[in-house]
Amino acid sequence: MVEKEKNQNDIIDQELINSFGIDYIFENKPINRIKSKPTIENTNSKLNDLKEKISSINNCDLKNNGKQIVFSDGNSKSPVMIVGEGPGQREDELGKPFVGDAGQLLNKMLTAINLKRGSVYITNVVNYRPPNNRKPELAEINRYSEFLREHISIIDPKILILMGSTAMESLFGSKIKISKERGVWKELIINNKTYLTMITFHPAYLLRQADQKKYSWADLKEIRKKIDELKLKI
Ligand code: URA
Repeated sequence: MVEKEKNQNDIIDQELINSFGIDYIFENKPINRIKSKPTIENTNSKLNDLKEKISSINNCDLKNNGKQIVFSDGNSKSPVMIVGEGPGQREDELGKPFVGDAGQLLNKMLTAINLKRGSVYITNVVNYRPPNNRKPELAEINRYSEFLREHISIIDPKILILMGSTAMESLFGSKIKISKERGVWKELIINNKTYLTMITFHPAYLLRQADQKKYSWADLKEIRKKIDELKLKI
């Protein structure tokens, strides 16, 4: 009689499986522990879903006031994401953030540190123009901050720039003062992920308070330094 060649591992595995006494199915596939990078299609489809979700919001004075949603502008694969407050008249008309006077200044600020507007990603805390351009109320900021957090997770930036107190409050709470918090790197945690964040003055504020531009310039230089340090492709 020819003795059947036995594989030692098979015997042990079979004994082990039998000892469980149930029909386990073992997958023969290795576990993928390395997260693959999201594709641009993936990111854009998540952005579309988020935009849809915001568009279907109910009982919102902002939505009732605005002509259309103002969602974002720029490059969704950018390592730099900028968050402003909310759309003004021009933004409401064109459906794009930062296209009025504050937007013109933002473009100049970016140029000053050698960044093109089209190479960053821009959005706002609220996505509809507030009546009479008033500041969004705390309840509105809180309601939209859920969307903003999701927006940040989708874009997954290496550097997050919060322009003005509304952007700061939506993510860090309302008990702090922008004059104290601006200009230093902070860590913002969303879904277990840490985002390097810089709070800085809003361009609309700088248009009213030109003497504050020196602080804004210091912050911009810090941002440029970090982009270079991290060797970000932008
Ligand atoms: N101010 C903002 O905060 N966002 C805009 O889009 C325009 C002006």
